Amino acid sequence: MLRNKRIILGITGGIAAYKGAELCRLLVKSGCDVSVIMTESAQRFISPMTLEVLSGRPVGISLWATISDTSSAQRQIHHTEAGRHADCIVIAPATANFVGRLSHGLADDLLTSVVMASTTPVLICPAMNVEMFHNPLVQQNFARLSEISRYSVVPPGSGDLACGVIGEGRLAEAADILAALERVFLPKDLTNRNFLVTAGPTHEHFDPVRYLSNPSTGKMGYALATAAQERGATVQLVSGPVHLPTPPDVELVSVVSAEQMAEAVEQYIAKTDVLLMAAAVSDWRPEIYQAQKVKKETSNRDPSRHVMLTRTRDILLETKRHHNVVRVGFAAETEHILQHAKDKLVRKELDLIVANDVAAPQTSQTGFGTDTNAGWLVFSDGRTEELPLMTKKAFAHRILDAIVTIRKKEAV
Ligand SMILES: Cc1cc2nc3c(=O)[nH]c(=O)nc-3n(C[C@H](O)[C@H](O)[C@H](O)COP(=O)(O)O)c2cc1C
Repeated sequence: MLRNKRIILGITGGIAAYKGAELCRLLVKSGCDVSVIMTESAQRFISPMTLEVLSGRPVGISLWATISDTSSAQRQIHHTEAGRHADCIVIAPATANFVGRLSHGLADDLLTSVVMASTTPVLICPAMNVEMFHNPLVQQNFARLSEISRYSVVPPGSGDLACGVIGEGRLAEAADILAALERVFLPKDLTNRNFLVTAGPTHEHFDPVRYLSNPSTGKMGYALATAAQERGATVQLVSGPVHLPTPPDVELVSVVSAEQMAEAVEQYIAKTDVLLMAAAVSDWRPEIYQAQKVKKETSNRDPSRHVMLTRTRDILLETKRHHNVVRVGFAAETEHILQHAKDKLVRKELDLIVANDVAAPQTSQTGFGTDTNAGWLVFSDGRTEELPLMTKKAFAHRILDAIVTIRKKEAV
């Protein structure tokens, strides 16, 4: 996603300036075309030479060099030109001083001038002492910037700070900065769409402490909820029991059993545009629920030792009558994967089904519990598209890309 993106990396004068060098390396490694601009203070912490070598480009170090320097290298970073040709400006680390100058519209050095003289999105990654970060004036400055849509702040982390204290103010991890940068480039093609996503397993209890379930961890459903939200959708996530943090700006409904999940879906389906049933809903539940824990001393002949199963509600099938909802199912199969997926798509009248192989959960890189997935998209018109192994996040985006094409067709 970052390949060939033109990034201006602004490094300001904080102790974390050295981390700007690593970020520069990672941006270049991700395929970005990186131009670095350093404030005068930043050059006291790290040499422009380092950044020049890492970026493979001349480093902007002075507002005045762009005009008075006759060397063609310096002329390439012109304060009114540079930002216009960039896809994003990343300021990492951003000092309290820089945030203050930027939020008050000052343009008193090359970096602030480049930001001011462009409309490019700006990602601000602050790093500072904890008291400095919580200083009300500094917070006001962040708030001022956040009011303007082109500026977004990547919140600092907590931990050991260079000043010797523990607290908030550490530069965000490079992986988080790269993820935030990827979000800048995501299409907002799901804006004003309501998504209902189910995720995780269900637990079908036969007594208060024992249940029937499956190894689903919810990672695929949570990746879908996150990706849809990042592309502008309003997302309702109905989740079985999992150990995952709730994705930002996603509304979570926690359920335990298939029955509860069915009730939640029933409640929200009327205001849903797209239903993604990624949950691994149990097909069976114990017929009888014992209100008290069944004791292990219970005799073999005691009926409470015998668990009879009955079918749970078929949540996807029950939503069939909602014709204006784009309905997407998942088929986790162990054999005849495509055939079973196609049968399910027809039986449940789905718009799309995502098929994957869960035959070898312990060794495979796809299916339950893994961070990666591979599989097939099977469309209602019979088309299939194979998706190679990729992260569940990337897999989620491929599913959403497919959903966008279904929506467009329906709109015609
Ligand atoms: C050793 C040292 C470390 C500093 N670390 C930080 C820091 O982490 N964050 C910060 O906001 N300011 C820090 N400062 C203060 C800035 O360098 C100072 O505010 C400077 O004016 C910033 O200039 P700039 O924003 O133009 O880069 C530090 C100063 C010194 C001397």
